[in-house]
Amino acid sequence: METLQVALDERSYPILIGPDLLTDGTILRAHIQAAQLLVVSNEVVAPLFLDRLTGRFTDRHVATVILPDGEAHKSLESFSQVMDTLVSARFHRDCCVVALGGGVVGDLAGFAAACYQRGVDYVQIPTTLLAQVDSSVGGKTAVNHPRGKNLIGAFYQPRCVLADTNTLKTLPPRELSAGLAEVIKYGLILDGEFFCWLEDHIAALRELEPHALRTAIRRSCELKALIVAEDEREAGRRALLNLGHTFGHAIEAATGYGEWLHGEAVGAGLLLAAKFAARSGTLSDADVARIESVLKAAALPTSIDGLAAEQLLDLMALDKKTRRGELRLITLTGIGAGSIVNNPPRHRLMEVLKDCGAV
Ligand SMILES: NC(=O)c1ccc[n+]([C@@H]2O[C@H](COP(=O)([O-])OP(=O)(O)OC[C@H]3O[C@@H](n4cnc5c(N)ncnc54)[C@H](O)[C@@H]3O)[C@@H](O)[C@H]2O)c1
Ligand SMILES: [Zn+2]
Repeated sequence: METLQVALDERSYPILIGPDLLTDGTILRAHIQAAQLLVVSNEVVAPLFLDRLTGRFTDRHVATVILPDGEAHKSLESFSQVMDTLVSARFHRDCCVVALGGGVVGDLAGFAAACYQRGVDYVQIPTTLLAQVDSSVGGKTAVNHPRGKNLIGAFYQPRCVLADTNTLKTLPPRELSAGLAEVIKYGLILDGEFFCWLEDHIAALRELEPHALRTAIRRSCELKALIVAEDEREAGRRALLNLGHTFGHAIEAATGYGEWLHGEAVGAGLLLAAKFAARSGTLSDADVARIESVLKAAALPTSIDGLAAEQLLDLMALDKKTRRGELRLITLTGIGAGSIVNNPPRHRLMEVLKDCGAV
């Protein structure tokens, strides 16, 4: 097992990574001590892991909220359902909310914990690769509004993150690849050596080789924790974590959410950002080729064939990462070196979208 710390003064917390955390009563009970627990999960994850978890807490008051599967349920309705359960079970200020699932469950449960009685403890038990390397770490919590993703939320840190790598065994391969996009992103913005390691280990990761998995998750969490510790509320460097995301969000929006997984759109977005960097003279064509080949090895899309370039550009301009109406794009000045460009020229964005197959 690996343990690392997110350093945020009195809000600091550990991330534990390893196989079988969910069957280890000692670890679970050491990190979840409240007398009243509310486990939030969904209809796919609960049948797989819920009993394993609750079986360790038969001496506590445990309530559960099991949501239907899907991003559509990261909603104010689900939030209300969690609040109703907390209130009707008479949960106190010192209860603990436990998120058991992917990023959807984690974001929603975290936001509910931030709001119930102005904030109660919560623990993340992420069960997708994306949640283990990204959404469970860093304290961004939210629900969606019909008009936009993550519009209602809070920065609120968990008490700890327990990432059981064995839970990934049941994850569909497409979801695993989607998580790999975020892993590759960390290497690209912050750690060239880690990117080289990924070039050699993508196949092992896709086969869930335990050592490779633990290394990739640990390094990803370390890099994210480093950035979050420096810039918890995204006033500066945390924006680097959006590499590939301005393009990615536009792809998700243009295809109506659901056709592309978020991580798949980010995968294509990473290549688009690399091509933007190459056209701006800050990245070599050889590096772009390396990035493309890692993405392909991770079974991520590298083309946006047939999507409308003009529409994507308009959607990019609307992305919430824009500041004072200016588009802020994350680009690369090398592998392992992310940087921020304000107001990237529209014609160059158009060129890279077309390079990747947009029309
Ligand atoms: N808070 C943040 O910083 C942050 C960062 C990135 C993404 N997010 C959010 O995370 C969400 C995406 O997270 P996600 O990719 O984990 O999606 P998800 O939670 O929808 O999970 C993906 C799918 O896998 C299923 N699943 C989960 N664990 C499983 C397992 N072990 N075995 C089999 N199936 C399993 C889920 O039921 C779902 O169908 C989005 O809402 C996004 O906005 C938040
Ligand atoms: Zn992402």
